[in-house]
Amino acid sequence: MANALTQQDVIAALKGVKDPDLHRDLTDLGMIRDIVVGADSVSLTVNLTTPACPMKEQIKREVETALRNRLPESIKSISINLTAEVRGKSTREKGDIPGVKNVIAVGSGKGGVGKSTLAASIALGLRQYGSSVGLMDADIYGPSIPHLVGASGRPMAMGERIMPIEAAGLKVMSMGFLLEPDRAVIMRGPMLHGVIQQFLHQVEWGELDYLVIDLPPGTGDVPLSLAQALPLTGAVVVCTPQAVALLDAVRAITMFRQLKVPVLGMVENMSGEIFGRGGAARKAEELGIPFLGELPMMSSIREKGDAGQAGSVFDEHSASRMPLLGIVERLAAQISIQNIQKPKMPTLQILS
Ligand SMILES: Nc1ncnc2c1ncn2[C@@H]1O[C@H](COP(=O)(O)OP(=O)(O)OP(=O)(O)O)[C@@H](O)[C@H]1O
Ligand SMILES: [Mg+2]
Repeated sequence: MANALTQQDVIAALKGVKDPDLHRDLTDLGMIRDIVVGADSVSLTVNLTTPACPMKEQIKREVETALRNRLPESIKSISINLTAEVRGKSTREKGDIPGVKNVIAVGSGKGGVGKSTLAASIALGLRQYGSSVGLMDADIYGPSIPHLVGASGRPMAMGERIMPIEAAGLKVMSMGFLLEPDRAVIMRGPMLHGVIQQFLHQVEWGELDYLVIDLPPGTGDVPLSLAQALPLTGAVVVCTPQAVALLDAVRAITMFRQLKVPVLGMVENMSGEIFGRGGAARKAEELGIPFLGELPMMSSIREKGDAGQAGSVFDEHSASRMPLLGIVERLAAQISIQNIQKPKMPTLQILS
């Protein structure tokens, strides 16, 4: 046989096949691996940038079509294997947590809009796709994450390091683990800053694809401390559809922009008959921010949260499953976009 097919021919055949979110050739992104050329077969692996990639089926189809159209007819069998490896940014920076690829804060301008519910759901959802995930409760005065995910116990100290609590497949840290249940936290700004620093840099997070951080309501000290402490991958802003809540969401977005934290997208929570629908999507479009999806008002979400079973919002027949998985996938895609397209913004430096 004169002109046997080579790996280079396969790569050439994939020219122009792009990741639909990242708008670059899969081959340039290093996503095509393990090309094996047989007498009448080709197999390869597409290594996605996140297992929660919303485009995986489309990517697979496009690779297959390109190979079918461009490789010689003698190739009868084409097999495409999908794997995923979450990417972090390409360079390390001051304040980065070693081993933690992406840090995402979930915030809002307003209290009670469902930040903690969404932070927990996002963490659990990313975990469902097989990623390694941490969940940090930065609501120091009103920690609700331990209850939501059914986590309890006291974090152990190992020398200088603090071990997170493992629950529902997540590594969790919260002020709630360090307090008696009905004690209030009384702390001034500098101490609060110290706790945030400790949670980020003294907790043994290990190797994580994603660390999700639940913020307290509003635009106060905690987001500022966070933005100073490390370069965040970005923030998710949660809001409810009514106009007053949207005003607060805009305030939160302005804050993140001032803090040089990329806004990865907006989520509309509790959409439905009571608060209306669609307000957040319109606002996101107006502000040029990705819209990650809406989560309707559902009594089951509150019940599962109250029962400490946040994970069951993903149960097979649960009405919250599909909307939440959609939000998780769109967020994962935005994180990949953030890492590949733009260099990370520097950590905010504030003199105190
Ligand atoms: N989509 C939803 N449908 C029904 N109930 C919801 C929904 N989202 C959140 N809730 C409920 O609303 C209440 C407030 O949610 P959550 O604690 O997540 O809000 P939050 O923004 O974190 O509040 P805070 O500002 O106090 O931290 C909880 O009882 C939660 O179960
Ligand atoms: Mg909360």
